[in-house]
Amino acid sequence: MQIIDGKQIAANIKSEIATEVEKLRSEHGHTPHLAAILVGEDPASQTYVANKEKACAEVGMVSSVYKLPATISQEELIKTIQFINTDDEIDGMIVQLPLPKHIVVNDVIESISPLKDVDGFHPVNIGKMVIGEPSFLPATPMGIMLLLERSGVVVSGKHCVVVGRSNIVGTPMSIILSRNLKNANATVTLCHSKTQNLPQICAMADILIVAIGKCEMIDKQYVREGATVIDVGMHRVPDASKKSGFALRGDVKFDEVSPLCEFITPVPGGVGPMTITGLIMNTLKAYKAKLK
Ligand code: GUN
Repeated sequence: MQIIDGKQIAANIKSEIATEVEKLRSEHGHTPHLAAILVGEDPASQTYVANKEKACAEVGMVSSVYKLPATISQEELIKTIQFINTDDEIDGMIVQLPLPKHIVVNDVIESISPLKDVDGFHPVNIGKMVIGEPSFLPATPMGIMLLLERSGVVVSGKHCVVVGRSNIVGTPMSIILSRNLKNANATVTLCHSKTQNLPQICAMADILIVAIGKCEMIDKQYVREGATVIDVGMHRVPDASKKSGFALRGDVKFDEVSPLCEFITPVPGGVGPMTITGLIMNTLKAYKAKLK
């Protein structure tokens, strides 16, 4: 059994990006710039945005955060996005999700310029991904593809089972894995809340990717011996022994499942650090596309 060290792989990629950013900055006099829009005061969203700012600083990119009140109207939010769309200084933007209930998320996403949509959530980018044209890939599936590649897990020809069909992770993951791309070309099964015989289907996977948002649901009956398991889950559970008062767990029962696996990602330190790396890579890509 080998643990896939997402923290180390993310650090390696960020260091490669930092070198490239410095070279581009000295050649072109402009530093790649990521803007994040944060609506309201959700603590988890605040942490995610702070981590994105930190990652930008680590690779020498500029970041700016637009903090807007939870009471903002959809119209005002879209006006801010349109302002960023036309600001030449900014290469990429993200709107941190979730948004308050009175805002229609898809309307907001569709107001982002596809050229600056480094989350890869705009329908134009999703459509391009589906037909295999160059696009911004959503950061988490992109991070998972990089984890597999850099850990030496061969995907081509394998049976990948993806559990969870969210727009952000499961659905794009299933599409990317199935495409005729380097280290993709998998046979893919996409499972969801209505799937029958879920344990049996998961146990047929060479590579099992779990993004269901249910703490430690996947136990050993879902995993065949020698499989690779990628855990996208992230849950806080009370833990008095920790200074923060909580520990992090995934969608997979790590202690029970890991002895069966050829490769497995831990939580924390697996997929999580790679998601931000995907975002940073997309911001660099947006910057380079603008140079052309
Ligand atoms: N909320 C949870 N995941 C994401 C993500 O990848 N991007 C954004 N913008 N918000 C999120």
